[in-house]
Amino acid sequence: MGAITILQGGRLVDPVLGIDTIEDLWIQNDRIIKSESATPKQARVYDVSGCLVMPGFIDMHVHLREPGQEYKETIQSGTRAAAAGGFTGVACMPNTNPVNDCGAVSRFIAEAARDGFAKVYPVGAISKGLRGIELAEYAEMKAEGVVALTDDGMPVVDSQLMRRAMEYASSFGLKIISHAEDPALSFNGTMNEGYVSTRLGLKGIPTISESIMVYREIALAEFVGVPVHIAHVSTRPAVELIRAAKSRGVKVTAETAPHYFTLTDEAVEGYDTHAKMNPPLRSEEDLLAIRGALSDGTIDVIATDHAPHSELEKDIEYDLAANGIIGLETAVPLGFEMVRQGVIDVKRLVELFSSNPAEILGVHTGSLQEGGLADITVVDPEKEFVYAEEAIVSKSVNSPFVDWNLKGKPVLTICEGAVTHDHSGSVE
Ligand code: DOR
Ligand code: ZN
Repeated sequence: MGAITILQGGRLVDPVLGIDTIEDLWIQNDRIIKSESATPKQARVYDVSGCLVMPGFIDMHVHLREPGQEYKETIQSGTRAAAAGGFTGVACMPNTNPVNDCGAVSRFIAEAARDGFAKVYPVGAISKGLRGIELAEYAEMKAEGVVALTDDGMPVVDSQLMRRAMEYASSFGLKIISHAEDPALSFNGTMNEGYVSTRLGLKGIPTISESIMVYREIALAEFVGVPVHIAHVSTRPAVELIRAAKSRGVKVTAETAPHYFTLTDEAVEGYDTHAKMNPPLRSEEDLLAIRGALSDGTIDVIATDHAPHSELEKDIEYDLAANGIIGLETAVPLGFEMVRQGVIDVKRLVELFSSNPAEILGVHTGSLQEGGLADITVVDPEKEFVYAEEAIVSKSVNSPFVDWNLKGKPVLTICEGAVTHDHSGSVE
């Protein structure tokens, strides 16, 4: 008969199937099967009453740092953190060393990911070495399984190169993910340009350094006739551009990260390097616009931009510290905070974390449908926990949320029928 796992008494929410119901979920080997009345003797039974049982969450923007910076994170440690955070799949950015700009590196990542705790979808580089000069090897990378292309971390400044990238990528069915930043406008900036940067005496990054490039990407995508995805949207002007483009029918999609709907540039106060990332934390006005965009569909995805760095790069003066924070283990509770505040409902949360990223990347998503692959995220929305540094699963601890009291804990993560994270304490 094969191994049977039963999730008992949970609230099943799947926006694609249109279900929201309290029911048992049966898994046999790697698939969801029809529930039966009698529990088989050998079955593993989890009591998930009070919990949400949802299609596996996908984080479409993480930095796994392998190859090249394994002291910050590895595919093993990063996917372990993903599973602990409730994710069954992650898309990893190409700014590794060497850069994922050719088939050999894509293959290395795909092979290393076989022993991981979550599915890994490698994203290839737009340009060789992320240098923004010549296009990378799209055909080779596609053959090794890359799901999209981006120079994330570096903007593609040359509009002609971006146009060619969109055209060439579309012939392989690959989408461009834009790191929207005009480096002339953000030059030397280390935080949001505004009142706080003035008070702290730090060089600011204006909102227009993002929005001007968001506008260019929309214009290029419309001109070329291809879809484009905007990474880590942080500003109100960018939200407004995306909203207007969508209403005209342009195929633009967008993601934001939990820190942009949770924190403002006030968090940089005290020159806290754990509040330093690119794009930077913005103003209250931007934060409210991001929340509005999550709720009205302008922003399609919550992705973490999980960017691990060691203490060497973070425990130094603010100006010199590396950009980025880890996010895999805090995204789900911070997302549930939006539910508690009435910004989004649970159905929308599942779209933002699961069905939308899967559709944008063109990858299989977990579904609660009978016969479907069992990629499942189980969250106890009432469970509170302290995000203690000692308990962090990622290899790095650069998070502004350390010691925060969080609510909404991923208690069980199942990837193709295999339990990759179990904090349920309820297996019989
Ligand atoms: O904060 C960031 N960290 N922004 C990026 O664009 C790159 C990332 C990283 O790789 O650390
Ligand atoms: Zn990134």
